Amino acid sequence: MVNHYNAAAHDPVVAIYPGSFDPITNGHLDLISRGAKLVDRLIVAVLRNSSKAPLFTVAERLEMLRGATGGFCNVEVDSFDGLLVDYAARRNARAILRGIRAISDYEHELQMTLMNRRLRPETDTIFLIAGEAFSFVSSHLVKEVFALGGDISGLVPKAVEERLKEKQLLKEKG
Ligand code: PNS
Repeated sequence: MVNHYNAAAHDPVVAIYPGSFDPITNGHLDLISRGAKLVDRLIVAVLRNSSKAPLFTVAERLEMLRGATGGFCNVEVDSFDGLLVDYAARRNARAILRGIRAISDYEHELQMTLMNRRLRPETDTIFLIAGEAFSFVSSHLVKEVFALGGDISGLVPKAVEERLKEKQLLKEKG
């Protein structure tokens, strides 16, 4: 088989890790930490025009992400609008990084991957299996458990826990 991948092998490998990150969890952080070891530059990108109603503003999510990823020298935090593959093209990214926690994630991820591949075959999707300690952790569940008074320590960075507490206090006051 002919390997067409030669000259480009020396180009820095840039990957985008896209998501809502509302808020970042330790599961995301685990993926960022493992993904950052595989590529030259990892761009963690928050979707701005999501149809989901977020708890945190994009600015708040970016701030929490920057705080949590400051220790990784090849990780950048950014936000994007529109199609992910167009953003990937603008950033010269060769890959999209996504995490799979359980088989239930697979179907949606498969659809997105195939759609993205159809839209821009040059950008491929890399999947990492979430660390087993985080396979049940999602931003959605963390917010729900927190809102109902459950313990979320160890599931999100400490600063995120503080932000959730602040949000709750504001809600109680307002
Ligand atoms: O963390 P999430 O909410 O599962 O992330 C979903 C995300 C941001 C990866 C996805 O919604 C996305 O890529 N949106 C950008 C718009 C787009 O390109 N849509 C077509 C993707 S198939």
